[in-house]
Amino acid sequence: MNRNGIEFSDAQLQEVRRLQGLYPDTRGALLPVLHLAQDAFGHVSLEVEEYVARLFDLSPAHVHEVVTFYTLFFQAPKGRHIVSVCHNLSCHLTGAQDILRHLKARLGIEPGETTEDGRVTLLAVECLCACEMAPMMQVDDRYEGGLTPAKVDALVDALR
Ligand code: FES
Repeated sequence: MNRNGIEFSDAQLQEVRRLQGLYPDTRGALLPVLHLAQDAFGHVSLEVEEYVARLFDLSPAHVHEVVTFYTLFFQAPKGRHIVSVCHNLSCHLTGAQDILRHLKARLGIEPGETTEDGRVTLLAVECLCACEMAPMMQVDDRYEGGLTPAKVDALVDALR
């Protein structure tokens, strides 16, 4: 066990080695290993980044750049539900900013934050490839489109 208590189990380490073996350059396995780390430790803290960096013989700064580039990695404990509002072009033109403003006021948080009760983490994300449903958002693994403030309220109220 390292000083932060962050360490994969033997089975997880075996999976890391398997993933690294799939690529000519082991760095190809960095994203799946970061997902494994997020599943194992709940989120990808700076300590987790350092741990993963050592497994790849990379600098922690390199791993941090990767983690902060993708919205799929959480650097702090995430809520029980993830609400991701698309704010890219099609959604922007159909009212995404109003939806985001409504959600921020409703939840009392900014994008990237989690409600105090741990119920919802709010994200503002790039195109979710469902532009025909604009304005749209993803609630956990479901796509919800044609959003209005009333529809957003109903969706959020249903989250426990
Ligand atoms: S712009 Fe929002 S889903 Fe594509």
